[in-house]
Amino acid sequence: MSSNSEAKADATEFLPGAGFHLLTPVYEFLARPMLGGVWRDVVTDVKTLAGRGDNLVDLGCGPGTVLQRLEFERPDLALTGVDIDPRMLSIARRRLPSAILVRGSIDAVPLEDGSADVVISSMVFHHLPRQVKQKAFHEAKRILKPKGLFLLCDFSTPINPRGEWLVRWFGKLESGVARQGAGELLEIAESASLKMLPRWTRIGCITQYEIRMHD
Ligand SMILES: C[S@@+](CC[C@H](N)C(=O)[O-])C[C@H]1O[C@@H](n2cnc3c(N)ncnc32)[C@H](O)[C@@H]1O
Repeated sequence: MSSNSEAKADATEFLPGAGFHLLTPVYEFLARPMLGGVWRDVVTDVKTLAGRGDNLVDLGCGPGTVLQRLEFERPDLALTGVDIDPRMLSIARRRLPSAILVRGSIDAVPLEDGSADVVISSMVFHHLPRQVKQKAFHEAKRILKPKGLFLLCDFSTPINPRGEWLVRWFGKLESGVARQGAGELLEIAESASLKMLPRWTRIGCITQYEIRMHD
């Protein structure tokens, strides 16, 4: 990990997982009713798509919810979590003593080029300004091996009236949700010449994308 990345993480303002720092210790409890199925489906995709012994990096790992499930269900994987929030990381460290958990920002990931077979990121991008999202795509590509797999799960364009309603409602609380509901993720990926293949959508507006990196 470079000291530059640590300094950048210190300097970057970020939106905490549950919107307020005070709620960080209960983020998972608050999010589970909406995201329980999302986390389960992310884990199922990794179980299906990751190769034996792969190095997997979770960008914006939060309290380590997905990593903990993967540690149980795919003990062959080498797990790394990256998050900007030291409070989230200290929860993740308590739960995952054998995973590598590093503090850093998604736009300056403190990991080596070509060090990951699989990168995942769930429910993080809607927290980020557009230019940070652009850099995050670049960083995912940089840390992945050629032909590595990026699974990105977040609010996106709604696929049904329930999803439209939820994006409208959440979009009033968080502007990042509204922007992504209007197609921002797909636009950014297209301008970076990345093909986002939708794998599934939950509650009409949270989509998991499969992005294959080619050199
Ligand atoms: C809504 S939580 C999602 C946590 C977890 N991935 C999940 O699926 O539950 C968003 C996470 O992104 C992290 N985050 C926000 N901005 C970030 C940034 N610039 N770099 C890395 N992590 C960031 C937050 O600290 C928080 O843990």
